Amino acid sequence: MNALVFFILALYSVFSISIIEASKIESGFSIDLIHRDSAMSPYYNPSMSTLDLLKNADSRSSSRLKRFSLSLLSNENESPESFIIPNNGDFLIRIYIGTPPVERFAIVDTGSDLTWVQCSPCASCFHQDTPLYVSSKSSTFTKVPCHSQSCTLLPPNQHACGKSQQCLYSLFYGDKSFTLGELVFDSISFGSNVTIPKSMFGCGYYNNFTADTSGKPVGIVGLGAGPLSLISQLGDSIGRKFSYCLLPFNSKSASKLKFGNQAIIKGDSVVSTPLLMNSSQHFLYQLNLQGITIGQNTLQTGRTDGNIVIDSGTTLTLLEQPFFDNFLTSMKQTIGIESVQNVPKPFHYCFPSQPNFKFPSTILHFNGANITLTPLNLFLLVENYLLCLTVVPSHIQGFSILGNLAHVNFQVEYDLERKILSFAASDCTDLNLS
Ligand SMILES: *[C@@H]1O[C@H](CO)[C@@H](O)[C@H](O)[C@H]1NC(C)=O
Ligand SMILES: *[C@@H]1O[C@H](CO)[C@@H](O)[C@H](O)[C@H]1NC(C)=O
Ligand SMILES: *[C@@H]1O[C@H](CO)[C@@H](O)[C@H](O)[C@H]1NC(C)=O
Ligand SMILES: *[C@@H]1O[C@H](CO)[C@@H](O)[C@H](O)[C@H]1NC(C)=O
Repeated sequence: MNALVFFILALYSVFSISIIEASKIESGFSIDLIHRDSAMSPYYNPSMSTLDLLKNADSRSSSRLKRFSLSLLSNENESPESFIIPNNGDFLIRIYIGTPPVERFAIVDTGSDLTWVQCSPCASCFHQDTPLYVSSKSSTFTKVPCHSQSCTLLPPNQHACGKSQQCLYSLFYGDKSFTLGELVFDSISFGSNVTIPKSMFGCGYYNNFTADTSGKPVGIVGLGAGPLSLISQLGDSIGRKFSYCLLPFNSKSASKLKFGNQAIIKGDSVVSTPLLMNSSQHFLYQLNLQGITIGQNTLQTGRTDGNIVIDSGTTLTLLEQPFFDNFLTSMKQTIGIESVQNVPKPFHYCFPSQPNFKFPSTILHFNGANITLTPLNLFLLVENYLLCLTVVPSHIQGFSILGNLAHVNFQVEYDLERKILSFAASDCTDLNLS
C-alpha cells in the first residue's frame, strides 16, 4: 500500500524550500484548553451522564495504555508509531491554519509527536464536519523537501521522497488507522496574538481514523517530547516549557495551556521530579513513582526506572498490578466504608456519598517530589449519589498512567530543557481567570 500511496502523492507536488523559523515569543502565551465533554466543545452532548462520559473515557484510557506500552516495549528496529492508536485525547484546542487563517478544533496530545490534519485534494479521508485544509488556498503554505533535516527527523521507515523531492510521511496505527501525506510548512496560529509562521505538520491526503467516526476531529496537535512536536518546533522561543492547570471534571469553562515564560510556575509549594525520557524514539513523559501513602500506610512500588507516564489525554489513573491491589485494599481499609455490591464499570470501589466521609491523606511519592492529592483527584460523584475511586488497574504488566483527573487543581509544568516536571497545588479556577 505504501508504494502506491507514495506514487499517488507524488502526483500532487511542486518543489519548494523552507526552513523552520519559530518567531521569538518572549513573554510566552496561553490558549484555552477545552475539555471534549464541556459545553465549549464540538463533542458536547448534554444528555450524557457523568457515568456515560466516564465509561467512554475509560475505553479511551485503555487504548492509550495499550498504545503507550507497545510504544515503550517496541525495540529499536520497529517503529513505535506503528503501534499508536490515534485515540482521542481528552482536550481540544482551537487552531487557525494558513493564510487567511481557517479555524479548527484539534486534539492536543502530550502522547503524540507529529501534528497532522486532513488535507485537500484528498485521495481518501474520513468524514469530518468542517471543510478540509486546502493548502493551495493558503498563501503561506510550502512543502518540506525530502532531503531537508526537517524531513529526516521522521524515522527512516516513515518518510520517503516524492516525485518532486517533497517529503512524504506515513503513520500506521495499531488499530488500522493511518495517515499518509506530505510534510508541509504553514502558519499555525492560536488566536489573535500568537502565530507560528512556519509550523511543520503532516498534510494527510490518505487517512483513516477508525477510533472516532463522530466527524469532529480534524487532526492531532502533538505536545510530545520528540523532535517534531509543537514544543520542539517552538523550541527556544518558549524555552521548551509548557504548563496547564486543569479544572475539575464537568467544569463549564476552559482550562489554560501556557507556553514559555507564562508557563513557569513559582512559589513555595512547587515540587519537581525528573522526566525520565529514555530512548530518543520514545516521546512519552515518564516519571518514577516510588510509592503512595494512604493515611498512615506507605506502599512502595520498588521501582526506580520511570514506571508511570503522565498523560493529559488519559482521564483515569491506571496503576500496575499487583501494586493496584495493595493500593485498593489500603484505601478501603483507611476509608472504612463498604463498597456497593454492583460497582459500575470501569470502577473498582464505589460507596454512597455521605456527609461523615473523611477523605484520607493521600501522598504520591515521586523521585524528589511528594504530592498530596485532594478528593477531586481521586473520587468522582457518579449517578448523583455514588463516590467512585478514579484509580483503576492497568491491564498491562509494568505500566501505569497518571491520568488527568489526578492533575486537577495542580499547575503542572513540563520543562524539557531541564528535563523536570513540576507541580504546585493551586485553585485552577482562580488562576484561569487571571
Ligand atoms: C494579546 O496580547 C495582549 C497584549 O500583549 C494581551 O493583553 C492579551 O491578553 C493577549 N490575548 C490573548 C488571547 O492572549
Ligand atoms: C477505514 O476504517 C473503516 C472502519 O474501520 C473501515 O471500514 C474502512 O474499510 C477503512 N477504509 C480504508 C480505506 O482502509
Ligand atoms: C532504557 O531502556 C533500556 C532498554 O530499552 C533499559 O535497558 C534501560 O534500563 C532504560 N533506562 C532507564 C533509565 O530507564
Ligand atoms: C517525601 O515523603 C517521605 C515520607 O514522608 C520523606 O521521607 C521524604 O523526605 C519526602 N521527600 C521530599 C522531597 O519531600
